Amino acid sequence: MKKNISFLYDNHGRRINYVRLAVTDRCNLRSFYCMPELGIQYEARDELLSYEEMEQLLQLLRRMGITKVRITGGEPFVRRNMMTFLQKVCQMGFDQVNITTNGTLTSNLVTELKEIGISSVNLSIDSLDSERFFSITRRDVLPKVMETFHALMETGIPTKINAVVMDGQNIDDLIPMAELARQYPVDVRFIEEMPFNGAGSHYQVLNWNHQQIVEHLRTAFPLMERFPDPPYSTSMNYSIPGFKGKLGIIAAYSRTFCGSCNRIRVTPKGLLKTCLYDNGVFNVRDLIRAGASDEQIWDTFLEALGNRAKDGWEAEKNRNGGLPITESMSTIGG
Ligand code: GTP
Ligand code: 5AD
Repeated sequence: MKKNISFLYDNHGRRINYVRLAVTDRCNLRSFYCMPELGIQYEARDELLSYEEMEQLLQLLRRMGITKVRITGGEPFVRRNMMTFLQKVCQMGFDQVNITTNGTLTSNLVTELKEIGISSVNLSIDSLDSERFFSITRRDVLPKVMETFHALMETGIPTKINAVVMDGQNIDDLIPMAELARQYPVDVRFIEEMPFNGAGSHYQVLNWNHQQIVEHLRTAFPLMERFPDPPYSTSMNYSIPGFKGKLGIIAAYSRTFCGSCNRIRVTPKGLLKTCLYDNGVFNVRDLIRAGASDEQIWDTFLEALGNRAKDGWEAEKNRNGGLPITESMSTIGG
């Protein structure tokens, strides 16, 4: 008998309505917190979900109650024909189609992104100083990224900046980056560094956790005030009188927001992750390629979510029998 496909809930009663789809594991930067200087072993093309498979999956996820899609990578725009794909996704009827990008290849595409209906863009920028930008990303492309930023501001696409806070690297950049929110209607979010650097290297203690980041920002902006967070927000948000945008802090390592997590991830190879910190639960590409019906795929999602770790700490403990994380964020999509 055919079952009626309906919404996804996890075993903790949380509704899942947000999918992060990583469309490639390739990136044109080599940010040291994300991957080693020589890069990572990229997947062969036929290992990746094809555009047709991603479209099929998204159509099905929409029937499962997904309302928000975020396209991530790697860097999404290194995959050929990305605009055609994005245009199709924007026509599928989701409430929001968002992109997370490093902004190096996008300055000329911003008007088109607006035209096809992209809801918002999260732009990764870790420093406004070209030398530090280069030492962090190992590529000398800050001007290109800033071109994208200015194009986004001109076009009026809602934009957030993501900056990973790195001890000994970009602490002097935090205040100047926050200042962008004074002049522009952009939210600037500071992210705790996570261990997904592709090298398996780990710090024992995170020197710049969310509390330290707030204290640091407060020294420059004593009037900053906690601002009510939108539902499911990863960031703790702050407003400052006279600022056009907000500041946010994402406790990605401390994992303070797992209790309200509404998201799942699909990696470029089609692995479903019910948590950023888990090891992947099942491969949806294999199901699609084996000709599974929509109902069978839905059942597999339900089963995976029925066994979901309660938070990122439990997910990390359960992975690899507790072995350290060696993945690059480029293969997960952030
Ligand atoms: P909005 O949809 O605009 O709220 O953005 P987002 O925070 O969902 O997405 P974005 O791609 O901008 O991610 C910003 C940072 O938050 C990245 O460093 C992500 O890795 C981190 N992040 C996103 N989702 C999770 C999550 O489920 N767990 C953890 N620990 N970090 C996450
Ligand atoms: N720690 C924290 N954030 C990271 N990102 C990539 N790698 C890491 C890491 N090791 C961020 C990027 C991007 C988002 C998708 O994930 O800066 O903004």
